Amino acid sequence: MIVGKKWFTAVWPEGRTVKMIDQTLLPHKFRIASFKNHHETAKAIKEMVVRGAGSIGAAAAFGAAQAVMEGKATKGFEELLNTRPTARDLFWAIERMEKAVKGKDGKEAKLAAVKEAREISGSYVENGRLIGEHGSVLLHDGARVLTHCNAGWLAMQDWGSALAPIYWAKREGNRVFVFADETRPRLQGARLTAWELANEGIEHKIIADNAAGYYMQKGDVDICIVGADRVARNGDIANKIGTYEKAVLAKENGIPFYVAAPLSTIDLKCKKGADIKIEERDEREVLFIEGKRIANEKSHALNPGFDVTPARYIKGIITEEGIIRPKPDEIKGVFDA
Ligand code: MRU
Repeated sequence: MIVGKKWFTAVWPEGRTVKMIDQTLLPHKFRIASFKNHHETAKAIKEMVVRGAGSIGAAAAFGAAQAVMEGKATKGFEELLNTRPTARDLFWAIERMEKAVKGKDGKEAKLAAVKEAREISGSYVENGRLIGEHGSVLLHDGARVLTHCNAGWLAMQDWGSALAPIYWAKREGNRVFVFADETRPRLQGARLTAWELANEGIEHKIIADNAAGYYMQKGDVDICIVGADRVARNGDIANKIGTYEKAVLAKENGIPFYVAAPLSTIDLKCKKGADIKIEERDEREVLFIEGKRIANEKSHALNPGFDVTPARYIKGIITEEGIIRPKPDEIKGVFDA
């Protein structure tokens, strides 16, 4: 564990190699993994060595740059697009990479690809910082925040989305307490969010996913902030499985529910949440914990990776352009501005 290490990044290039903090090993082991070509990078995205919409977008961009270097742009882009279906940022990043190299070849294409990938990654750093600044106005000194999954710097290069306002508030001298949902089945909350918060010295407790309602009902939660993998044009959002039920519980208990996401996560072509493709993951993620089977041998499991929270449960979307309401005109307006 990197005690005292404050700001880092989830994925970055070194020459033609893509490096990632291996998020499958945290918090027990801190290991930097190397991926020599686009195929290895695509596999790492699929296997969640890197995860979280923004970091997936950055990894896809660096993987696409590798594909261009290898002279395999078309095939490589396709392979990267087929890794994880829900995160809009993956598609956004590849679309940008395609545009950057269009009509170019040889050295010109390679230089353009490397430059674009670095810019995509850099945009997450800058947008995370701005999300932090805009979102921090929602956090008074002593605010108690509930978050789900991991939407910190591991998930979006350097600052993060949902955790960025908390980091910003701390910088400004405000105390924040975080309820970190453990987030079954892969435990991104218990493993990653808690690790980030512990390293940043932010007071927090991990709670079982099914304890969130208990604390909301007791009046212990002031605000919920989560990230998003895709925001539809009507303001519905897809995020880690379990987000929807937290939003419903928040409304029932009169607690404001916010989503933090950069504009790259908004999919204007997607009309409503029901149109978002939800990733179905391997049943073994549910049936096993740390390699040990917890269910009997005859039972099978269902394992959707994400769910959709309808816009009516969301008070605001914290973006790099400020906080907008989840309404079609405001969402479209932020792109037109
Ligand atoms: O399956 P994961 O770990 O990639 O899911 C991550 C999330 O659901 C995050 O909340 C989301 O990607 C936003 S992080 C910037």
